[in-house]
Parts: sequence; structure tokens; C-alpha cells
Amino acid sequence: MLKGKKIIVGISGGIAAYKICSLVRLLIRSGAEVKVIMTPSAVKFVSPLTLSVLSKNEVVINMFDEADPAKAESVKAGTWHITNGLWADLFVIAPATANTIAKINAGITDNFLLSAVLAARCPVCLVPTMDEDMYRNKITQRNISDLKKYGYRILDPVVGELASGLYGPGKMPEPEDILEFVNGQFVEKDLKGKKILVTAGPTVQPIDSVRYLSNYSSGKMGFEIARAAQERGAEVTLITGPVNLNGIKGVNRIDVNTSEEMFEAVKKNVKGCNLVVMSAAVSDFKPKKVAKGKIKKENAGLSIELEKTDDILKHLGKNKRGYKLFGFALETDNQIENAKRKLKEKNLDLIVLNDPNVKGAGFGTDTNVITLIDKRSVSELPLMTKYEAANRILDAYSGK
Ligand code: CTP
Repeated sequence: MLKGKKIIVGISGGIAAYKICSLVRLLIRSGAEVKVIMTPSAVKFVSPLTLSVLSKNEVVINMFDEADPAKAESVKAGTWHITNGLWADLFVIAPATANTIAKINAGITDNFLLSAVLAARCPVCLVPTMDEDMYRNKITQRNISDLKKYGYRILDPVVGELASGLYGPGKMPEPEDILEFVNGQFVEKDLKGKKILVTAGPTVQPIDSVRYLSNYSSGKMGFEIARAAQERGAEVTLITGPVNLNGIKGVNRIDVNTSEEMFEAVKKNVKGCNLVVMSAAVSDFKPKKVAKGKIKKENAGLSIELEKTDDILKHLGKNKRGYKLFGFALETDNQIENAKRKLKEKNLDLIVLNDPNVKGAGFGTDTNVITLIDKRSVSELPLMTKYEAANRILDAYSGK
């Protein structure tokens, strides 16, 4: 996503500055071109040489060469902020200290980073990072809120252990999270104003108090759909069975265990939705009776009687009210034929077909091979990441 994007990374003087080496590396790996500007105090926390090697560019710190103001470099530096303010697609300041935030809000340009911010024509992102009391201080809060009004994009600090030993908000998000935020800045918000419900993961159906029936679903596909929809501006609710995945910032996550709990949560949250994507691998069967306590070996029969669970997708298709409905089909034989039948029977607008036996597809992987089928067309897509696949599924809704 960042291929060819030009990004200025500004670093102000906080202990978290050392983590920006990883951010620069991640940006470069994602295909971005990176130029780094540091404030003179940032240099005390992390080496400009390291950042220069990682960014593959000279790091700019001072406006003029103090020792020799007539030197050619100083002339270049004297206009660097103007030329690069035009060059950049995005400006990210991390860590953004209370001092830097206050000075940006006041229009002060007494270091080179501040001059470059004022000259930038591109969007500017700030990652406020400081001690808890400085962050909570009304002046800092007023500065952040003013800057938001001016269109600055803020990635809030996280709660955690701070350099002072205090525990609270003010900690810089990890470089991976900043990268995700940066990625999000380049995404077209074509789903703004849309309410999307996504289900993900497996469901578990108890046999007794310690055993259950389930499947291998990791939830990754559904989580990527929720992430992509949120990035594209939608209001997203994600109902998930038990998975080993972190929540997604800005997504309302509801955790459930059984298919009955998922059904209840879906019914509760479907009202007002524009799109429902049922990517959960809902158990098709459940034990007819759930034993109290743990079934003892000697008491157990050789079989567990099963009954069908309610088909959530079918219910949503039958009672469609103002939303588009996307389902998934996991097929190993007569795939297109079976998927087309499900599309019709369940009154879907789109069915996403996947074959778990294809290399790179199915449960647990980060990639998938999917075919999108609607009433009019069948599009077989090549192997791609689940994030890319999620975007292609959402494109089918937005008409991109
Ligand atoms: N699904 C559902 N409720 C169930 C079972 C499945 O909502 N109790 C949804 C899944 O979320 C998925 C779709 O139905 O979107 C397809 O599930 P799949 O198991 O492939 O198909 P089934 O219709 O259950 O039929 P079969 O297992 O016989 O292929």
C-alpha cells in the first residue's frame, strides 16, 4: 500500500525516539521513500546515523551549519523544508512531545522540524508521546484538540508503563501500530457512513463442562474484513467466536462462544446495517444434550447425538431488511455449482467461495484464494493476502 509513497518522519525529543528506527525500517519495507528530520533534542535519544542508514537518506537536524553558515549544505538546508514540504505525501511526527505539539499549535518555527511542518502541504500526523500528567494537562489537551480542528491527524498514545515509572496514558504505540495508522491515511474512505456487521472465527458447541465441538477457523479472514472496512471509513461491529487475535482499533468487537450466542448477537446488532458479512465458520451441528459436569469414561457411550444449529445466514437472507448480505462457502467438490445454489437458497448478494485444499488458502494462513460469485458473475481471484482479499470483497459492495 505504501509503494512509492513519500513520507517525512519527524522525531522530537522523547525516550520513545529509539523505536522510530523500527518504524523507518517498516516504512521502507512497505515500499515507502522516507526522509527523517530530528529536533536537536531527539539526537540525544537516538543516533542520526542509524536513521540515515535505515531511511537511505541524509537526516536533517539543523537549519544552518553552525560552524560555517556559508557552506553549500546550509543553503540546501535553508530551503529543504520548502522543497520537501512539496515532495511529501505524508508527514508523521513520532514521538510528538508536549513541547513540539505546543509549538506547532502556536506556529513557532524555532527548529528545523517545526519549519518543515509549517511549510508542509501534505497531511500531518502526530503521535503524542509524553508523561501521563503532561498528556492529561489541560494545555496539552487543548493544543491537541486545536490541531485536530486544523486537520492534523492524531494517533492517541496508549496506556502503559512510562519512562517515569508511572503507569498511564502517554506511551507511544508500537511501530507496527504507527505503520497501520500511516497505511490508513492512504485508504480511500469509500465506506464512510456505512454500517457493517462482520462475523468471524469458529463457534464452540459444548459436549460437557470441559469438552466441545469446533473447527480450525482462525478468524483471520473475518478480522481482515473488519479491519479493511474500518479503514475505509465504515462503522464496524465484529462478532467473533474464540480466536487468538487482538482487537482492531475503532472496531466494536463482541466475543461469543456458541452458535446460539453468535445468532443472538447478530440479531441484536443487524438493525440499521448496510452490509452483513458472515465469514464465521459457524458449527453446523451441536450435541443434542450437554452433559452436566465432565462425562466419565466408564459412563460414556460410543456416540454423541448431534442436531443441526440454526443457520444464521439463512435467517438473515429470509429476513433481509435494507442490508446487502455476503456469505462464505467452504467447498471441496462441485464448488461453483454448490456455491451458486447457496447464493440462491440463502438469498445472498454475494458468496465468497474458498477451497481449503488449495495451497495458500483456508484456515490459519495469512493468504487466501477466493472466488466471488453473484447473480451475474463468477470472478476467480489469484492467491493474495487475506487483507487484500478482504478489500476485494468490500469492493464488490462499494462497486469499485
Ligand atoms: N453459516 C451460518 N450458520 C450456520 C452455518 C453456516 O450462518 N449454522 C454460514 C457461514 O457463516 C457461511 C455460510 O453459512 O457464511 C456457509 O457455510 P457452509 O458450512 O459452507 O455451508 P452450509 O450452508 O452450512 O452447508 P454445507 O456445510 O452442507 O456445505
